[in-house]
Amino acid sequence: MREIPPVRLHVPAQRSASGSAADGLRDAARRVLLRNWTGGSTVPSRSLYPHQWSWDSAFVAIGLRHLSPERAQRELETLLAAQWGDGRVPHIVFNPAVPLDAYFPSPDFWRSSTAGAAAGAPADVETSGIVQPPVHALAAWLVHRADPALSRRRGFLRRLYPKLVAWHHYLTAHRDLGRRGLVSVVHPWEPGMDNSPCWDGPLARVEPAPPGSFRRADLDHGSAADRPTDLDYARYVRLAADYRDHGYLDARAPHRFAVEDPGVNALLIASEHALADIAEEIAPEIAPVSGAREELRADADAHRRRARELTAALVDGLWDAEAGQFLCFDVRSGRPIAERSVAGLLPLIVPGLPRDVVGALLDTVRGEHFGLGGAVRLVPSYDLRGHAFDPRRYWRGPAWFNINWLMERGLRQHGRTADADALRAAVLAAAASSDFAEYVDPHTGAGHGSREFSWTAALVLDLLHRTARAGEHAPVPAAVARPRARVRAEARAEARAEGQAEARAEAPVGSGEAAR
Ligand code: SER
Repeated sequence: MREIPPVRLHVPAQRSASGSAADGLRDAARRVLLRNWTGGSTVPSRSLYPHQWSWDSAFVAIGLRHLSPERAQRELETLLAAQWGDGRVPHIVFNPAVPLDAYFPSPDFWRSSTAGAAAGAPADVETSGIVQPPVHALAAWLVHRADPALSRRRGFLRRLYPKLVAWHHYLTAHRDLGRRGLVSVVHPWEPGMDNSPCWDGPLARVEPAPPGSFRRADLDHGSAADRPTDLDYARYVRLAADYRDHGYLDARAPHRFAVEDPGVNALLIASEHALADIAEEIAPEIAPVSGAREELRADADAHRRRARELTAALVDGLWDAEAGQFLCFDVRSGRPIAERSVAGLLPLIVPGLPRDVVGALLDTVRGEHFGLGGAVRLVPSYDLRGHAFDPRRYWRGPAWFNINWLMERGLRQHGRTADADALRAAVLAAAASSDFAEYVDPHTGAGHGSREFSWTAALVLDLLHRTARAGEHAPVPAAVARPRARVRAEARAEARAEGQAEARAEAPVGSGEAAR
């Protein structure tokens, strides 16, 4: 593993007006992040996902910035250190200290450093060859805003900016498979919603890998009823192996699965806006003599223009007025996919959508298919009335915390403050009562999948931080019984054990995010 210098933990004393329940939840969330930190990044889950995952790290960084802005920066830096020469950011960066059989598909399946050499895969670290949604520029911007002085001192944005630009360039230049100005995903793991019913149609065309040709490790750690099926896995394996066997080169790979997903494209647009902010932010730091400062200002304009072009393509290509939401588009069949995924609501985070589109999306969130404020308190991943709805099986119905964090942001952005407040309270309650579950039943809030899940804890910290800053008195569930003093002692012991500087729980507030 690469050598990572120690960091100092800054645990701000966000003494919430809402009292000890918020403090208890915050302490428990911090504890999850401390336990799941491996020295340079955070595992999503110690058992089920023991490496670094791309979009997990972005969401983790968004919460980690309230615990340690430096760790949050390092989370993204570690991920981007594994970027490929063609700009792609791999969806997994493998930790060589973890045994091969702890996770499948393991590094010896992907063989990135050899099979991916022509695409510029790094030689010194093993990764997967597919990608995940581009949340990273947005995360980098939010992390910077948590402690701009530290960020400038470390050259955080200056170092990351060209990498993030290359990442977006990979997506727009190599992945516009439909030639419609939108990014396509080439594997169900790429949009992050692995077994969404949206993929059932496109996946049906994929010949499954033979059942005995691989061994799933995920079922060692979780209930089969919470996970994708064996048939799903056999197809995931086939698609990944085909990509690998074509050198992970998009121009050569058959890409029998190619889908334009509104969630992926919405996150790319949000991240293009963030890149514009980043370019403007770092321009004054660049010496004026070289002309680079002016180039950065022109870059900012170009990012905003690209964001507008992508937004127009998103609306032209994926909006379905009758459904009142965006739909996925199957590039191979040339048809929209007639399934309602929550991915079709994520464009709510995109600035500058047409007003009628926003209005319809807001109606759909609260309508019979997603039920917010009625049938459910958290937004489900899939249509409550859909033929494939299953409240516990991964992305076929359960509510996920990163998605609900994005939805909360979208609702707030569009002035739906009461809905956003209610959703935030529901997210906190579900996280507290489920021990930071990976996902929950949207009706009952019962936890499923892994527990002590990193992005769940991180996004709880982010929501609590905002509550504290706003001085709001929103009720916070008191489901975490562990005494605060014990939590602080454990956090200090863990930090010492990993050779870190002593955690300064209850240190004076060290960071303030002015972003919202
Ligand atoms: N989400 C997939 C898994 O379950 C791959 O990223 O391992």
